[in-house]
Amino acid sequence: MKMLRTISLCFVLSFVFLQAATVEGADSNRTNWAGNVVYSADHLQEAASVQRIRTLVKSETKVTALGTRHCFNTIADNAHTQLSVLQMHDVVSLDATARTVTVAAGITYAQLSPYLHTHGFALHNLASLPDISIAGAISTATHGSGVRNGNLATAVSALELVTADGEVVKFSRGHGLNGVVVGLGAVGIITRITLDLQPTFTVKQFVYENLPLAQFEDHFDEIMASGYSVSLFTDWQKKRFTTVWIKSREGYGLPFAAPEEYFGATLATQNLHPIPGLSAENCTQQMGVPGPWHERLPHFRAGVTASVGKELQSEFFIPRRHAVAAILALESNLRNEIGPHLFISEIRTIAGDANWMSTAYRRESVAIHFTWKQEWPAVQLLLPLIERELAPFRPRPHWGKLFTMSPSELQSRYKMVDEFRSLAAKHDPTGKFRNKFLNTNIFTSDV
Ligand SMILES: Cc1cc2nc3c(=O)[nH]c(=O)nc-3n(C[C@H](O)[C@H](O)[C@H](O)COP(=O)(O)OP(=O)(O)OC[C@H]3O[C@@H](n4cnc5c(N)ncnc54)[C@H](O)[C@@H]3O)c2cc1C
Ligand SMILES: *[C@@H]1O[C@H](CO)[C@@H](O)[C@H](O)[C@H]1NC(C)=O
Ligand SMILES: *[C@@H]1O[C@H](CO)[C@@H](O)[C@H](O)[C@H]1NC(C)=O
Repeated sequence: MKMLRTISLCFVLSFVFLQAATVEGADSNRTNWAGNVVYSADHLQEAASVQRIRTLVKSETKVTALGTRHCFNTIADNAHTQLSVLQMHDVVSLDATARTVTVAAGITYAQLSPYLHTHGFALHNLASLPDISIAGAISTATHGSGVRNGNLATAVSALELVTADGEVVKFSRGHGLNGVVVGLGAVGIITRITLDLQPTFTVKQFVYENLPLAQFEDHFDEIMASGYSVSLFTDWQKKRFTTVWIKSREGYGLPFAAPEEYFGATLATQNLHPIPGLSAENCTQQMGVPGPWHERLPHFRAGVTASVGKELQSEFFIPRRHAVAAILALESNLRNEIGPHLFISEIRTIAGDANWMSTAYRRESVAIHFTWKQEWPAVQLLLPLIERELAPFRPRPHWGKLFTMSPSELQSRYKMVDEFRSLAAKHDPTGKFRNKFLNTNIFTSDV
C-alpha cells in the first residue's frame, strides 16, 4: 500500500495551500505554470551572471534551479531557495561550420528558434509548445515526436554547470555528458548549453479526424512513420482516435501525399485544437501550409496559452514494440474511468538514446500522455490503475509530470540509477541540489 506516498500527499497539500493563497491574493508566480503546485521555497533568487550563480550556490545550503515552471510535480521546488537563470538568455555563439549553437541556459526554445531560422539553421525537434526553457526541458528529457527523433536532450553536445562548491564544470559528448544531460536538477545549475544544428527546413502540417482503432491496431508503425513527427490524439472513447497530426518535413523521405482519406481518417479542412471543440486560435498552422520548422513542429504557437492552462499532465514511456498492446489494454480496461477526468491523450514516438536518466534510455519508445482536468483527487486514484495496466511494459513516467509509481519501481526502470547517484554525490556531496522529489524518488528507496 505505497500508493498514497509522500509525493502524492504533497500535491494534495499543494491544492489546499493554493486555495488559501488565492484567497489571500498571493503572488501568482509562487506557483508552477498550471497552478497546481505552490512552491514551498522561501526565496526565489534570480541570477544574471555565472559569477552570481557561483556566489549564490556557495552560500546556500539548499538550492534548486527553476526554469519556466512547466513541470506538474515538485521536481523544481525546494524548501529553501529556488534559483532562476531565465535572465541569462543570450546566444553565446553560432558555429556555422560545426553546426552548433551555444546559449546561456535560461533561453527558451521560443527565443532561440527564430534566431536560428534567420541564420539558416534548425533544431532537430521541439516539444508541443516552445515557451519552455532549454535547461529545464533537457533536465526532464522533454520530447516531441518522430520515430527517428531522439528527445530534446539528445541535441545537446556540451554543457556547463555550477557544482555545489561553486565551480564551473564542462561536459561534452564522450566526456561525461550522458550522465548529466537529463540531470533532474540534481547535478548542478546549468549555465551554458551547446546544441546540434541542421540546415533550416520547412514543414507542412496535416490533421486528420477520426482514425478507427482497428486501423491503428493494424498500421501503427506505418502511421507513426508517415511524417517526420506524428501525434495521435484520443479521448479513449468510441473506438477511434480523435485526430492524427502529421508533420511532414520537406526533403525527408517521400513527401506525404495528404489524401482526403488516410486509414479511414478524414483530412481536416480547418485548423484544429488537440482538444475537440476548443478554438485553434493558439495552434500552429495546419492544412498543409508550408512554414519554418519552429512554427510547425510545436502544436502551440509561442507566447499564447498552450493546451488548456488549468490542467494536469501525466505521461508514461514504454518500448515502442508494445504500443498497440498497451493502448488496447488501457482502452479496454480503463476508458470509462479515464473519460470523465480527461481533456485529451496524446501518443508520440521517441528514438532510444544513451542518456542515463532519459525516459528513452536504450529504448525505442512510445509515450502515452494524459492532459487531465485539474481534478487531482480523482486523477490520483486513476494513476495507479494506469500504472498497473502498463506495468507489464515497464513504464517510465515523465520526470516533469504526475505519477504515483513507487520509488523502487521507478528506480528499477533505470539501469544507471546507481551511477547517477554517485555522479550527483561527486558534484554535490552534501545534497545541496536535492529536494523532496529527488530524495523520495531517486536518492532513497521504499523497499
Ligand atoms: C502546456 C505544456 C506542454 C508541455 N508539452 C510537453 C511536450 O510536448 N513534451 C514533453 O516532454 N514535455 C512537455 N511538457 C513538460 C515540460 O516540457 C517539462 O516539464 C520541462 O521540464 C519544463 O521545463 P521548465 O524550464 O519549465 O522547467 P521547470 O519546471 O522550471 O524545471 C524543470 C526541471 O529542470 C531543472 N532546471 C531548470 N533550469 C535548470 C538549470 N539552469 N540547471 C539545472 N537544472 C535546471 C529544475 O530544477 C527541474 O528539475 C509540457 C508542459 C506544459 C505545461
Ligand atoms: C513575481 O513577478 C513579478 C512580475 O513578474 C516580479 O516583479 C516579482 O519580483 C516576482 N516575485 C517573486 C517572489 O518572484
Ligand atoms: C489563446 O491564448 C490567449 C492568450 O494567452 C488566451 O487568452 C486564450 O484564452 C487562448 N485561447 C484558447 C482557445 O486556448
